[in-house]
Amino acid sequence: MKLTPVTIGDLTLEVPIIQGGMGIGVSLSRLAGSVAKNGGMGIISCAQIGFNDPLFERAPFKANMKAIKDQYEMAKTIAGNGIVGFNIMCATFKYEKYVQRCVEVGADVIISGAGLPIHLPELVAGSKTKIAPIVSSEKAAKVLLRTWAKRYTRTADFLVIEGPEAGGHLGFKYDGIENAIANMDEEVKKIIAVAKEYGEKFQCEIPVFFAGGVYDRADIDHYLELGCAGVQMATRFVVTEECDAPSDYKQRYLNAKKEDVKIIKSPVGMPGRAIENKFTETIKTKQIPIAKCRSCLSYDHCDRKTIPYCITEMLLNSVTENPDCGLVFAGSNVFKVNEMTTVPALMKELSE
Ligand SMILES: Cc1cc2nc3c(=O)[nH]c(=O)nc-3n(C[C@H](O)[C@H](O)[C@H](O)COP(=O)(O)O)c2cc1C
Repeated sequence: MKLTPVTIGDLTLEVPIIQGGMGIGVSLSRLAGSVAKNGGMGIISCAQIGFNDPLFERAPFKANMKAIKDQYEMAKTIAGNGIVGFNIMCATFKYEKYVQRCVEVGADVIISGAGLPIHLPELVAGSKTKIAPIVSSEKAAKVLLRTWAKRYTRTADFLVIEGPEAGGHLGFKYDGIENAIANMDEEVKKIIAVAKEYGEKFQCEIPVFFAGGVYDRADIDHYLELGCAGVQMATRFVVTEECDAPSDYKQRYLNAKKEDVKIIKSPVGMPGRAIENKFTETIKTKQIPIAKCRSCLSYDHCDRKTIPYCITEMLLNSVTENPDCGLVFAGSNVFKVNEMTTVPALMKELSE
């Protein structure tokens, strides 16, 4: 199938590929700006985005607010007219402030998952920022779009469906992942029907993008045939020169074998897909005491007394210390990547 540009309100996405947000420190300005420059949508992860600032250890929230502006401006400088936005997880502590800050700096889009972004429309009201929820089921898509229609008389500018083969947190139960893999195509068709229904209600198109395990052009074509407008991909963008993660981290991707890809328990209360290492071995039997709380998650998402480890600490370890001793999220197809590439080369390979 031919890849065609996607219209999202007044924006045109030349190549229908979104580079998924990757925290902490994996998708920042360089990766997002480069993807946008090459016609895709570049997404900066807001998760502890200011971790590199000396201010971070003392005042993480302040450092994050500052970094949102800096990272966006740097990404836009690389991107030219390309589309750059942010991924903000609903479970984030002070989620509303993060959204407002992204709007304030002029974000083209905000994509929000790890929960349902019920209040997102009122937080972006009056701005040009486009909004997209991440959903994993027809039920979630229906609940969210119905609520937005009732409360805010509006709908999503686009929709991301995240399937069970994605990297990072998964919107499925631990014991439901295999079943979800078998039935995902049917679910995708149902979610597309929901998007169509609300598109008709609001006399607009709601383009749908599929994420999770999309590896090559054949995969992209498959989702276009199901009715998607495009895809969101993350794992493949990690092994690019432009990816903001350190080279040790990328090396873990290059070394990963099929049997190294595991489903782990996250303190967020969701399963997550990651590469097996010393850290994943440790949490099988031990709780890792929290050295320092940097208030990443809202209180209803993190019970500081009972969590098996601190998610911020372990994600930070993998990009600032040693990827063997931290959490290295990756999609199910990570074992297939075996050489470094660049964003232009990858975009060319996927879009030709
Ligand atoms: C290293 C890594 C970090 C991620 N971090 C986030 C995140 O902070 N927020 C989020 O919504 N999704 C996150 N994801 C999910 C991706 O944005 C994307 O939807 C998913 O990985 C797509 O599947 P793929 O990696 O198989 O292409 C992450 C994925 C990876 C691999």
